[in-house]
Amino acid sequence: MSEQPIILIELEQTKQKALSLLAEIQDEEPLQAWRREYLGKTSVVMSAFSSIGQQPKEFRPQVGQVANQVKQALEASLEERAKIVSETALTRKITGERVDVTLPGRQPNAGGLHPQTLVLRRIFTIFAEMGFQVYRSRDVESDEYNFELLNIPAHHPARDMWDTFHIDQPGVVLRTHTSPGQIRVMREQAPHPIRVILPGMCYRYEQISARSEIQFNQVEVLAIGKNITFGDMKGTLNGFVRRLFNADVRTRLRPSYFPFTEPSAEMDVECFVCAGKGCSVCKGSGWLEILGCGIVHPTVLKNGGYDPEVYSGFAAGMGPERISMLLHKIEDIRYFWGNDARFLEQF
Ligand code: DAH
Repeated sequence: MSEQPIILIELEQTKQKALSLLAEIQDEEPLQAWRREYLGKTSVVMSAFSSIGQQPKEFRPQVGQVANQVKQALEASLEERAKIVSETALTRKITGERVDVTLPGRQPNAGGLHPQTLVLRRIFTIFAEMGFQVYRSRDVESDEYNFELLNIPAHHPARDMWDTFHIDQPGVVLRTHTSPGQIRVMREQAPHPIRVILPGMCYRYEQISARSEIQFNQVEVLAIGKNITFGDMKGTLNGFVRRLFNADVRTRLRPSYFPFTEPSAEMDVECFVCAGKGCSVCKGSGWLEILGCGIVHPTVLKNGGYDPEVYSGFAAGMGPERISMLLHKIEDIRYFWGNDARFLEQF
């Protein structure tokens, strides 16, 4: 009787080793490597089958049996393991894609309206309620409309009130105020009555500082008709200011000078920071200047095509940046056109 063939021991050892390695496998790739190693053509099990012919005769059936058992055991365990591996892969995929519904959402950048757009809309609304329409006049003006037709002849000392940007074409300027729009509306509408506001950018060749910009908005007010008086002007402007600030704010008119109005005035509102007691905002006076106004000068009426013996009117001009500054206690006019999002986002 021959000795027990070594292949029988090898088969048993290989089975132990293969099964214990298989139990550790988590991924598809090592699983396939394991299959090649223990069930492939050159594996111990497969070579056991091909070695049967060389085994001693009496052990051949046993080698065949054991090899078969080992092969079946390995195949069965592989199948089980393969199931586990593919389930793990699926779980991993699902957890990886999981949506955490408790995470706070990302705030979309919504944008907003510029503080000047907001204050202009408020001004438009208030005047619209009093029957005033918006009329848009041009930014690039002639010297004639910006000055002469407004009763400011060349070399008149009043021109010093408006430091002007000139364009290389003689007689063309960037408007220094919205007042030239008065002449344009009048020439278009004469002899019909007028009730308009004229908003828009104005330009002045000035040193930029906390109080003055070279570019800023104005809103001009113009009413022309028969029997329009200083009292109408006062009532209209008071109504406007009370709706803009608050219903019981006090106002006053101070005599002033503008070449295109006679008489001229400036309107102050009681300082709403200190209620008239005097503070740094109103520089101790208790009053804040908010607009210039007056009765349209006969020369201007005539230049606009209205007979000053028959028609009269009032005009006013205000700076919406200044109004915003007062409403929101903004200390520096440069913020408006500086385009700093940290400032703009506050409105
Ligand atoms: N145009 C003037 C300025 O820029 C403001 C102004 C004052 C306009 C009095 C008017 C007015 O219509 O009547 O300083």
